[in-house]
Amino acid sequence: MGRKFVEDAIVVSNEQLASCIWKLVLKSEQAAVAILPGQFVHLQVDGGLTAMLRRPFSITDVDKAEGTIEITYEIKGKGTQMMTEWQAGHKTNIMAPLGNSWLATVDEGAEINHALLVGGGVGAAPMFMLAKNMVAEGKKVDVVLGARTKELLVLEEKYAGLGLNSLVCATDDGTYGEAGFCTIPAIRMIDENDYDYVATCGPTPVMSAVAAAAVGKVKNVEVSMEERMACGVGACKTCVVDTVNGKVKSCDCGPVFSAEVIKW
Ligand code: FES
Repeated sequence: MGRKFVEDAIVVSNEQLASCIWKLVLKSEQAAVAILPGQFVHLQVDGGLTAMLRRPFSITDVDKAEGTIEITYEIKGKGTQMMTEWQAGHKTNIMAPLGNSWLATVDEGAEINHALLVGGGVGAAPMFMLAKNMVAEGKKVDVVLGARTKELLVLEEKYAGLGLNSLVCATDDGTYGEAGFCTIPAIRMIDENDYDYVATCGPTPVMSAVAAAAVGKVKNVEVSMEERMACGVGACKTCVVDTVNGKVKSCDCGPVFSAEVIKW
């Protein structure tokens, strides 16, 4: 694992994308250039009375030339609610990059020609850089994005600009794209194509259904267990994952795992 940086980052913009989802862009002196797809950042939510209030956030994108980090966050409690108040120029202390990255469980030199990435809800965020890199490397990339309703499908436009082989959206309530869970098109596509890599991130039922369809058929299947994290630094144990190698903390040993080792 590479070097971690602890530094003050400055808010460049903080924009509401949906009723409960925001996009935060931070300017970082050092960390941005070191971030790999799938890694996360530990961010100080409040520098005042509750200075210990730090939270892990997955990273949607980085602009290495500008030194900026883009985070897509969902309001889940007091800390994330407070973050919505941040204006450009606000300073927050960050620790990054943390965790392993996508492809960490794939043999070096393994040939990946056709990949499927499945993101449920804000689980689509940590897969964006992976998709971007794979497309830049000339790989054929299919993406399935799912959300409860159209309004929450906030990353569709960003993914659509990548030049993917295909982009399929699904909403649980049928307000946009295919009606129903994103696992329906994902499982169909796994069945119909010869993927050599499948990655998924999102609610556990999404990941477990995708893993069940892909493991055994697709050589490399990875999942990111980041959704369960609370402290992000090994202290709270909310992120414990049951694996064939015993119980492990996903913030320490992940967030990316081979789907084959997870006991769902
Ligand atoms: Fe707290 Fe992993 S998130 S121990």
